[in-house]
Amino acid sequence: MQGSGKAAQDLLDWYQKNKRDLPWRNTDSPYKIWVSEIMLQQTRVDTVIPYYHRFLEAFPTVHALAEANQQQVLKLWEGLGYYSRGRNLYQAAKMVVDEFDGKIPDDYKTITKLKGIGPYTAAAVLSIAFEKKHAVVDGNVLRVMARYFGIQNDIRSGKTKRQIQRLADEMISENSPGDFNQAVMELGATVCTPTNPKCEDCPLSVDCVAYQTVQTDTIPYKSPAKKVPHHHIGVGLIVNQKNELLIALRPNDAMLGGLWEFPGGKQEKGEKIEETVSRELSEELGVSVQVFDKFMQLKHAYSHFKITMHAFWCSIVDGSPKPISGKEIQWVTLNQIDRYPFPKANKTLIEKLHELEQSDLTTFTRS
Ligand code: ADE
Ligand code: SF4
Repeated sequence: MQGSGKAAQDLLDWYQKNKRDLPWRNTDSPYKIWVSEIMLQQTRVDTVIPYYHRFLEAFPTVHALAEANQQQVLKLWEGLGYYSRGRNLYQAAKMVVDEFDGKIPDDYKTITKLKGIGPYTAAAVLSIAFEKKHAVVDGNVLRVMARYFGIQNDIRSGKTKRQIQRLADEMISENSPGDFNQAVMELGATVCTPTNPKCEDCPLSVDCVAYQTVQTDTIPYKSPAKKVPHHHIGVGLIVNQKNELLIALRPNDAMLGGLWEFPGGKQEKGEKIEETVSRELSEELGVSVQVFDKFMQLKHAYSHFKITMHAFWCSIVDGSPKPISGKEIQWVTLNQIDRYPFPKANKTLIEKLHELEQSDLTTFTRS
C-alpha cells in the first residue's frame, strides 16, 4: 500500500496533464469561482458553461451583482433550475459588499454566514480561490472515495458521507488543496464514471480497493430512491380584450420563488382538470373564468416530484384579478413576456405560444 501522500501526488500529476480547460479554471477571482461552484452544485458542466459566461458578462464583479435586482438575476438563471441558488447568491453578494468591504471571506466560519454557502461551497471556494485545506465532497467525490477506500456502505446515508468527508480531509494535499479537490471531481466526471470506469487510465488504480478486488460494479452502493409523487397541474392562459395574457409572480419564500408563472395549481381527487383551472383561478385571483380548449400539456421533473401541466385558454367572466396568493400580477403581450423570468415548464409553454400562427389570442376564447 502506498502512503496517501503518494496517491494524492499521483492524482495531482494526472490532473495537470488531463484537466479540461473550463472557464472557471482560468481565473483566480474568488467571486468568479464562487459563481461557478454555485452553478455546478446541481448542474452538469456542459449546461453550466453558457450560463456562467452570460452571468459574468452581466455581473462581472460582486459589486455589479449586489447592485442588480432579483428579477435580472433570475432571468439569467432561467432554465438552470434550483432558483434559490440565484436568489441566495444575489443576497450573499449584497452582504459581501455591505459587511465585508466587497471581499469574499477566506475563512470557513465567515464564508458560511453567506446565504447559499454550505459545507460544499465553502470547501470549494476556500480551497480553489484561497488554497485553504478543506476537502469537498460531492456526488463524484463520494463515488471515487467509496471505490478507492472500498467503502461498502450506502452513500446516500449521512453517516457514510461523514466517513468519506473524514477520509478526504486526511487525503487532501497540503500544497494544492484546490487542485486536489478539482482533481477528484475531474476523475469522477471523466474516468471513475458511474458505469464502466476507465480504471486502466486511473492514477489511483494501484491501490484502489474496488478495482483490485473487482468490485467496481457494486461500489458505491446507493439505496434506491423513493418513488416521487406525480401531480397534474391545471393552468390558465387568461386572455383579455387587448390580446394580453395574465401572469403572476410567485412569492420569494416559495419553491420557484421570484419567478413568474401562468396561474393555476394542483388537480384534486375527483376533479376534472378544467375544474382545477377554474377553482385555482378563483382561489388565486378572485375571478370566475370560462375555460376553453386545451392549448397543450407537458411533463416536467423537479427534484422531489413530477408534474404534467395542462394549459387551457381562459377568459374572465366575472371579477377583476387580484394577487391573492401571489405577490403581483401583470398583463403582458407575447412581445413583452420574454422579459420576465419563468420556470422551465412555463418557458416551454411560452415557446409554443410564440410558434402560434394565430397572433390574435382572443380567437381561442370564443365559443
Ligand atoms: N463540479 C463542481 N466543481 C467543479 C469544478 N471546479 N470543475 C469541474 N466540475 C466541478
Ligand atoms: Fe475509480 Fe477505477 Fe480509479 Fe478505482 S481505479 S478510483 S474504480 S477509476
